[in-house]
Order: sequence, then C-alpha cells, then structure tokens
Amino acid sequence: MPTDPTPGPAGDPSTSRTPTIVLTGGTSGIGRATALALAGTAGHLVLHGLEPEHDVTDLLDAVRAAMRPGTPLTYVAADYGDLAAVTGLARQIRASTDRIDLLVNNAARPGPATRTISDDGNEVTLQTNYLAPVLLTTGLLDLIGRDAPGRIVNVASATHLSATLYLDDLSLAHHPYSPSTAYAHSKLALVTYSCWLAAHRPRRSLDVVSVHPGVISTQLLHAMFSIGGERPEQAAVTLRYVAARRDDNGTYYDERRPAPPNPQASDPATQDRLHDLTARLLRDHL
Ligand SMILES: NC(=O)c1ccc[n+]([C@@H]2O[C@H](COP(=O)([O-])OP(=O)(O)OC[C@H]3O[C@@H](n4cnc5c(N)ncnc54)[C@H](OP(=O)(O)O)[C@@H]3O)[C@@H](O)[C@H]2O)c1
Repeated sequence: MPTDPTPGPAGDPSTSRTPTIVLTGGTSGIGRATALALAGTAGHLVLHGLEPEHDVTDLLDAVRAAMRPGTPLTYVAADYGDLAAVTGLARQIRASTDRIDLLVNNAARPGPATRTISDDGNEVTLQTNYLAPVLLTTGLLDLIGRDAPGRIVNVASATHLSATLYLDDLSLAHHPYSPSTAYAHSKLALVTYSCWLAAHRPRRSLDVVSVHPGVISTQLLHAMFSIGGERPEQAAVTLRYVAARRDDNGTYYDERRPAPPNPQASDPATQDRLHDLTARLLRDHL
C-alpha cells in the first residue's frame, strides 16, 4: 500500500464537520480503492456503481468497516448508458443528503470495439464518460459548496492531451473510430467541461478540477492498452491528495502536479460551444 501524505478532504474547518462525499464508479479499480481510502474521512459516503447493491455487499462491508462508527454509507446504482438512469441517480443522491462537500466523477468505460450509439442517440463512450457526469453534476450543483468549501474532481486521462474535440461530430460519425480515440475524445470533452464549469461556477466556495490518476492496472486500462500499470491504491492516494487541495479552481492535475491541459480545453470559445451542444444533447434530461 502506498503511503498517503495527506490528511484527506476536509470539511468546513470553522464547524469541524466531516465531509459528505459522492464518488461514482466506486465498485472496481481506482474507484474501489478510492472508496476505501476516503472512507475514514467521510461524514457521509455516497457510493455509485453500475451493479445492483446485492452484488457489491463485500465491498460495502469493507468500506463500512473503514468508516467511523455510525457514519452513513449510501449505495446507488445507475447505468450511464441510460441518461434517464443518471437523472434518477441525481434524485436518489438528493434524497440521501442536502449537502455535498466533494463530488468525484470517476465512473467511466473504455471505448467499445466498434462505434456504438446509445438508446439516447449518443456515441456510448461520450455518453458514459462525458454526458452522464455532466448531467449528474448539473443535478447536484446547488448542493455542492453551498454553505462551506465544496469541490468537484473530474477523473480525466492524459490521453485527452493527444485528442481533438470534434465539435461538429461529437458522436464520431465522420471521423476514424477506435476504442482509444473514442475514449480520449470523451475525456477531452470532460476536461473542457471542467474548465468551463470552473469559469462559470455558481459560487466562489466551489472549486472544479480534473485529474489524470496515473497509468493504473484496471479492467479499463487492459481493455484498450497492452501495457501494465501501477496498483489502484496508488491512484487512490493521488485522488485523495487532489481532493484535499484548496483554491485551485480550474486546475488540471497530471497525477499530483498541476499541468496544462489540451489547449482546446482552455479555449473559452471551445468551452462555450461545447456547453451549448451539450445542453442540446441533454435537453430532455435537464
Ligand atoms: N486505469 C488507468 O490507467 C486510467 C488512466 C487514466 C484515467 N483513468 C480513469 O480513471 C477512472 C476509473 O477507471 P478505472 O481504470 O478504475 O476503470 P474500472 O476499473 O473499469 O472502473 C470503472 C468504474 O466505472 C464503472 N462503470 C463502467 N461503465 C459504467 C456505466 N455504463 N455506468 C456506470 N458506471 C460504469 C465501473 O463499474 P463496474 O465495477 O460494474 O465495472 C467501475 O466502477 C475512469 O474515469 C478512467 O477513465 C484510468
């Protein structure tokens, strides 16, 4: 287990309250390790996964054992391949808490072998890795950092650096498709959104950042790349570190180092255009 030099995400120091944390994709890989790493710091932990609760009872027992006694743990399942389910997820989370101190958008999928369109009409990698976290974030935004410092950490990928955002072709109908290009494209959209939201945050008590968690040995990595990686616990240390930063609104982290994102992500005109297109794609769900 890598050593963790950080105290974990703080709540409001003036009230010494412990944070309410929402973590998506908490059932395997980096998310699972991060759930276990954050469990002891949380005042209320809301974990999202793709699988039904009865399939993740061992994980929930392990997370509960790592939490302070009496601290609530909520599990919510939703498939990001269905945008109505993401709206339902936001509703379920809102029913479990009236404030969020930290939202970690971690859930993601690799690109499928061939270009695939969801029932909602979107390329599925874009939908799962970009549209769904935007929809969830939008549905929770008024709860995050409302009466204390709040934070959104979007788990991105360094692959976004070599991607091009096709604003006229977000579902990749007219560009060469591969699983890794669809994945990198979706992550570039997510980093661009992070920069847009940082610039348009509804309150100064909210910081929005994105982070490349490292090259980590998980199902997602091995589905697309024939390379080895670090253990998920290493990425959990990184995410815990980034979750505990303050006053870094708009930062992209390459692991623990602030780094420039893809120039498209930093371009306000690109951010605004993506925002308008995204609002159109999500109009039936917002
Ligand atoms: N691994 C790397 O080297 C690497 C590098 C850069 C960025 N990242 C990012 O790190 C994050 C975690 O990825 P990972 O490597 O830990 O992958 P992983 O082990 O495959 O975990 C992905 C998580 O997302 C969930 N998920 C997958 N498809 C979903 C869907 N349709 N709806 C809702 N949830 C879904 C998975 O649920 P199940 O448990 O049911 O599968 C799992 O909890 C992702 O954002 C990924 O892009 C990873």
